[in-house]
Amino acid sequence: MPLPTLIRPARPEDLTEIGHLLALAFDEPVTRWLVPDPARRPVVMPRFFAAVAGDALATGTVDLLCDAHNGYPFAAAVWFDHTRPTGTGLAPGHEPDDERWERIFGAELDRWEIMDGAMARAHHPGPHWYLMCVGVRPQLQGQGLGSRLLTHRHTRLTSDTYLEATTPDSRRLYTRLGYATLGELPLPAGPTMWPMLRPDDVPVEVDVDVDLSLPARRPVPTRVW
Ligand SMILES: CC(C)(COP(=O)(O)OP(=O)(O)OC[C@H]1O[C@@H](n2cnc3c(N)ncnc32)[C@H](O)[C@@H]1OP(=O)(O)O)[C@@H](O)C(=O)NCCC(=O)NCCS
Repeated sequence: MPLPTLIRPARPEDLTEIGHLLALAFDEPVTRWLVPDPARRPVVMPRFFAAVAGDALATGTVDLLCDAHNGYPFAAAVWFDHTRPTGTGLAPGHEPDDERWERIFGAELDRWEIMDGAMARAHHPGPHWYLMCVGVRPQLQGQGLGSRLLTHRHTRLTSDTYLEATTPDSRRLYTRLGYATLGELPLPAGPTMWPMLRPDDVPVEVDVDVDLSLPARRPVPTRVW
């Protein structure tokens, strides 16, 4: 039985919560490669995700899937509009801002630069919307919320969409949603990412935004960090 949820665009006042949500969701090999010290990850990753989500509010959109009853965010998807040239030749989300990234990453800045450079070089050249990241709170993963959130955006876009899958599991989900793998992006002595493209003519199968007819089922969300 699906959770009663609604999807809304994020606002600036949501950014701190989005940073925490995505940092909790992204407990996976690429994040562990990016910030190897587990004690540093809870410091670095919420600030990083809040920063990219803030960028997306300016040049794209951040979709939030929330508890329909109390508005608590369960999942977030950070999208950049790359249907128009940026002027820098780089995809939105990959524009350099050394001081800001240095402040956020500190000792791990070189790792971010390696990863960001690899993603930027492989980035799909044509017009598209770029899914920089999507995450569901850990205790709610595998219940269809991520699919619902992505389908919501797919139904509203009339361009190709592009992303980098960071795990074999998420790659399988994206394949199911119509994305094709373009290649491999191995990180030095680390995990592999997969650039993926979804042509805009792939049919969308479902779009369930809100289902208020169902009884509330309230998970108890916890913030670990
Ligand atoms: C990837 C993610 C957004 C998918 O959302 P979701 O609500 O868990 O996924 P759904 O229930 O809609 O679909 C399930 C599918 O998602 C994929 N998936 C990826 N990571 C998963 C996870 N941690 N738990 C469950 N499913 C996951 C699987 O393909 C799964 O299908 P399966 O039943 O064949 O294994 C979510 O699992 C998540 O936040 N994962 C951690 C962060 C991450 O990896 N983000 C994507 C990086 S590109």
